[in-house]
Amino acid sequence: MCVRLVPSKGLYGFLALLLFVIFGALHTIQRWVSPTDHEILQAAVIKAYRRQVEDLQEILAGQAIGDSPPAVSKRKLLLSDAWTANRQQPEPRMSPTLKRMPLVSDSEVFANRPKKAPTFPVLYEQLYGAAYSDDDNVVMSFTNPYGLTAHMDYPHSSMWLEGDKVMDRVFAELGRDGIKFIVEAGSMHGGSAIRMAIELDKRGLRDVPILCIDPWTGDLNMWLNRVVWEHLNVKDGRATTYDQFMVNVQKAITDKSIAPHHITPFPVSSVIGARWLQATGFTPQLIYLDSAHEVDETYYELCLYYNLLEPGGILMGDDYGWEAVRLDVDRFIKDKNLKLNMFGVYMNWFVKKPMSAAVV
Ligand SMILES: C[S@@+](CC[C@H](N)C(=O)[O-])C[C@H]1O[C@@H](n2cnc3c(N)ncnc32)[C@H](O)[C@@H]1O
Repeated sequence: MCVRLVPSKGLYGFLALLLFVIFGALHTIQRWVSPTDHEILQAAVIKAYRRQVEDLQEILAGQAIGDSPPAVSKRKLLLSDAWTANRQQPEPRMSPTLKRMPLVSDSEVFANRPKKAPTFPVLYEQLYGAAYSDDDNVVMSFTNPYGLTAHMDYPHSSMWLEGDKVMDRVFAELGRDGIKFIVEAGSMHGGSAIRMAIELDKRGLRDVPILCIDPWTGDLNMWLNRVVWEHLNVKDGRATTYDQFMVNVQKAITDKSIAPHHITPFPVSSVIGARWLQATGFTPQLIYLDSAHEVDETYYELCLYYNLLEPGGILMGDDYGWEAVRLDVDRFIKDKNLKLNMFGVYMNWFVKKPMSAAVV
């Protein structure tokens, strides 16, 4: 008798189940031994971050930062492996159109306005649509809705800490009477603006306006990383850095630490601020750039703000140690054929606009 061995339906089922279990086990083992893309990227970012911190420590410890930028090896310029692994050359970036495009609603031909520094009352009136009064003005009348108290706890203000050295150098370059109007992009709690005001007062310049441009949103670092997030003091879902700025400036004026005719807050982004300056023709001799510090955005800001600067004036910034800032500052000075100078204070840098350069 011949018996045909025909697999039963049960056997097929069993084999299918066995295969499923084997493949499942193999997949799990593979996941154990090889990390996911996300894990690879995360490790690369951590490694790059560690290396960046080590490099900066080395630069700061090993070099007296003087008039020229710290010499850094090529490896150190490629600070972040995560960025550079697939992108050895920075991608081309867009330069802004320097000429302002008029709006259909423009109430005048702004391009006809003279390019000159405003006095404090002229700046105030153009900004807030009302004449300045010592008793009733935007700073002294600030209502402080969250009941904040004045403090200078933001620890990353190089200007607050060493602004005396920075301003000594600025005055050495421009002369005591060479500064009629200062613009700052990125003001946070007011440390840098208040320090600049103190330095102006020391030299008897009690009426030089300082326009503080900042949307007071904080920057990417503050929203991403717990270590700086606390400085935003988020309430009602937004940063209260504007409130802190106003309370700090109010106190500095009340205490007579600074004269009242310096600081004017302008709560807009650096790009809106730059275009407003271009339209109004208000021309600074000194610009301090300490805003978002994002790659490309910094390059864009450098182009716009350099354009606004009076010929012979100074464009300065800090955080040259940040990869994005360094990349954009280096590219900018190369494109414009400028000399990069360091202040000898943290990573603060400046360039001087040649007398032959234009304000567009
Ligand atoms: C490092 S803090 C400035 C610190 C300040 N200069 C000091 O020394 O005390 C950076 C500031 O840039 C502001 N910021 C971020 N993006 C900006 C943008 N697009 N335009 C202007 N300011 C910006 C943030 O709101 C934040 O207040």
